[in-house]
Order: sequence, then C-alpha cells, then structure tokens
Amino acid sequence: MPQSAWTHHGAPLDEVKREVELSAGVNAVFLDFLDAAAPDAQYLVCDATHADASIVACSQAWLNVCGYRPEHVLGRPNCRFLQGPDTDYRSIAEMASSINAGHVCYASIVNYHRDGSKFVNKFVMGPLVDAAGAPRFYVSIHGTPSRELDWSLARSPVPCYRVSDLGSPEGSPASLQRQVRSSA
Ligand SMILES: Cc1cc2nc3c(=O)[nH]c(=O)nc-3n(C[C@H](O)[C@H](O)[C@H](O)COP(=O)(O)O)c2cc1C
Repeated sequence: MPQSAWTHHGAPLDEVKREVELSAGVNAVFLDFLDAAAPDAQYLVCDATHADASIVACSQAWLNVCGYRPEHVLGRPNCRFLQGPDTDYRSIAEMASSINAGHVCYASIVNYHRDGSKFVNKFVMGPLVDAAGAPRFYVSIHGTPSRELDWSLARSPVPCYRVSDLGSPEGSPASLQRQVRSSA
C-alpha cells in the first residue's frame, strides 16, 4: 500500500497487518493487493471491531471518485452515506448479511457522489481476520483496478456473495447469488 500522504490516508498498512493473521487465506488475497496497490487503486479499510465498522483508511483515488476529503470519511461509521434514494434496500440488506457472515461480497449498486450525482459503484469487499478467524478489518476495492485480486493466494475455497442493484444500468434485479471463489 503506498504510504504517501497523497495516495493513502489513515492507518498505515503495517498497523493493519500487525492485527491480523497474515497466513489466513482471504487475508493473503487482500493484503497482496494492498501491498502492491497502484496510486490509482481505490480502496477502503474499516475497523470490524467498531460498532458500525468505521473507516480507518482509504486511498486518495477512492476519495477522488466520491468527491470527499479524508476528514470527511476517516472515523466515519459505515459507508451508507454513499447510498441514496435509488439504492435498492435489498442490496443494502444483502451486503449486511454478507458482512455479518464474514464472506467476500462483489457489489454493483447505486451510490452518490458528494455533489449528489449518482453512479454505479462496483466493488469487492471482504474481511481481514485475526488469529482466531474473526474479522478484525474489512477491506473494499472499488472500480476496475489495473491489477486483479489473486485468488490463488487463498489456497482454499472462499465463500463469496454477489449483490446487484435494481437501479444499476445493468438493469438486473437486485439479487444475491452465493458463490465460492476457489484458488483453482
Ligand atoms: C469495507 C467496506 C466498504 C463498503 N463500501 C461501500 C460502498 O462503497 N458503498 C455502499 O453503498 N456500501 C458500502 N459498504 C456497505 C455499507 O458500509 C454497509 O455495510 C451496508 O450499508 C449494510 O449495512 P447497513 O444496513 O447497516 O447500512 C461497505 C462496507 C464495507 C465493510
């Protein structure tokens, strides 16, 4: 993860890494991405031990897309401030189920920039677990990163949800599909 103040804000990756089990499969996938994140990578890190999973780190590229400044989002509970009237409530419930289950979730849902304009936010989010296997942080990677997540690093199948918003240009109904990402 770039540690430059221009590209990364909030808790440094080293601090995050100290709190999680580095060898856990899903951690390996997300940490590998963050370790080598390009300056244009859009990502967020939330503290899973806070009641509402407040945002503890984010990239400048993600702020650029949403139109916020670091002081607007760091410490802010949850990402629901990005949602609005056209965000399908079922998608929100499905994301909540996925997070509560500790699963990886691919989402494509209607969100709003700070100026109120709408966009379809595509992202993948998942937990970074501690030594006991409990979520310590949640990470999300947004947009179309130049580098894919390398699922081969998980070494074992990872339960994965897919959430799609009724209001997205894809026109698909809000849906929840349960899948398993495997390293194969
Ligand atoms: C790391 C992470 C990133 C998230 N990013 C977004 C996002 O970009 N847009 C969004 O609408 N929800 C996002 N969410 C989901 C919301 O924060 C929240 O979990 C969802 O609205 C369901 O919870 P709620 O019913 O309490 O609102 C994210 C969640 C996590 C853990």
